[in-house]
Amino acid sequence: MIRINENYLKLQASYLFSDIAKRVQAFQAGNPETEVIKLGIGDVTMPLPDACIAAFHSAVDEMADQKTFRGYGPEQGFDFLREKIAENDFKSRGADINADEIFVSDGAKCDTGNFQEIFATDAVVAIPDPVYPVYLDTNVMAGRTGEHNDGRFQGMVYLDSTRENNFIPELPSVPVDLIYLCFPNNPTGASVTKEELARWVDYAKKENALILFDAAYESFIRDESLPKSIYEIEGAREVAIEFRSFSKTAGFTGTRCAYTVVPKNCRAFDASGNPVMLHELWSRRHTTKFNGVSYPVQRAAEAVYSEQGSAEIKGLSDYYLINAALILEKMSAAGFECSGGKNSPYIWIWGNMDSWKFFDLLMQKAGVVVTPGAGFGKCGEGYIRISAFNSFENVQKAMERIAQALK
Ligand code: MLT
Repeated sequence: MIRINENYLKLQASYLFSDIAKRVQAFQAGNPETEVIKLGIGDVTMPLPDACIAAFHSAVDEMADQKTFRGYGPEQGFDFLREKIAENDFKSRGADINADEIFVSDGAKCDTGNFQEIFATDAVVAIPDPVYPVYLDTNVMAGRTGEHNDGRFQGMVYLDSTRENNFIPELPSVPVDLIYLCFPNNPTGASVTKEELARWVDYAKKENALILFDAAYESFIRDESLPKSIYEIEGAREVAIEFRSFSKTAGFTGTRCAYTVVPKNCRAFDASGNPVMLHELWSRRHTTKFNGVSYPVQRAAEAVYSEQGSAEIKGLSDYYLINAALILEKMSAAGFECSGGKNSPYIWIWGNMDSWKFFDLLMQKAGVVVTPGAGFGKCGEGYIRISAFNSFENVQKAMERIAQALK
């Protein structure tokens, strides 16, 4: 008898964003005349930068010519891209990361979801609450939790991110092995200072723990004093893995390209307490289960680092940050307590009512889709998240409609 992985039965019915998409579809079917504005899932709307498109086209032409055609590429990514990443995203900021410590992939969602596979099933995991659901759900699937009770999984250590701590969680009060952090944060939009991040690095060293640091939103940081990478913190190489993505940076949500940094001296431990280098384990896992991102996509990603590409991607994040500023201004003017929206494309709004009720109200009365905070965890209850990823015109229209609906 073929049996299932029973851990899947512990999961909440469906993935948050699929659930929202279903509700929106049902609303649209019943209200075909309403032009719905989507400020829910953080999906970019601006086209790929010209520099990326030109590189993409020319790589496709190479694939059409027998002399320049390529089959399988290296699973870890082509050197031309890994070298540009190491130089521009790390060395230029004083972070000591080399090209051969970069693993190119098709998304930070997959990488943040997959990385836990290389750790013991009884590892104690700490996740912030609220949190990007992928970190939690993949650990549930792997069997690191008990049942779901009263909005939380038994066995998981939750790090509350609330208005009382400015959405920067305290260090765990019980020993943990694996810690997920995301800054600028999804969903709260909070950013972390170097001093605050250094506390986590010190904790991980002291407790022999490991940090999985999701930096998918670093391109929205405008405050130069804030760290873009955890490797800007001394000692982080041994205790942190970092995830990055071209999705939000350069409009690659549909094109798919991301990368994970696994420093050569980053360690975990075997059952006898001997250090094991994670670079080798992740390399084994990645080369076994992944066959590389397509050549044209990697060429398009490389173009992000050209002079033209850098200017264009800065323009993209500036555009969404203007939307974020407008959302912050209008929702604050409507009397809501808001955070995020600076150095981040997400605005976290205290609705002072059930999150899903607030979500429904905005969809039914204003035709605007947001994300209910409760979908990100118990501490998200009472909040909604508004995403700045849409056209400026749509954001303006959405803010007018919300103001009207809430009058
Ligand atoms: C979000 O809206 O939280 C993100 O778009 C989800 C993702 O990047 O997978």
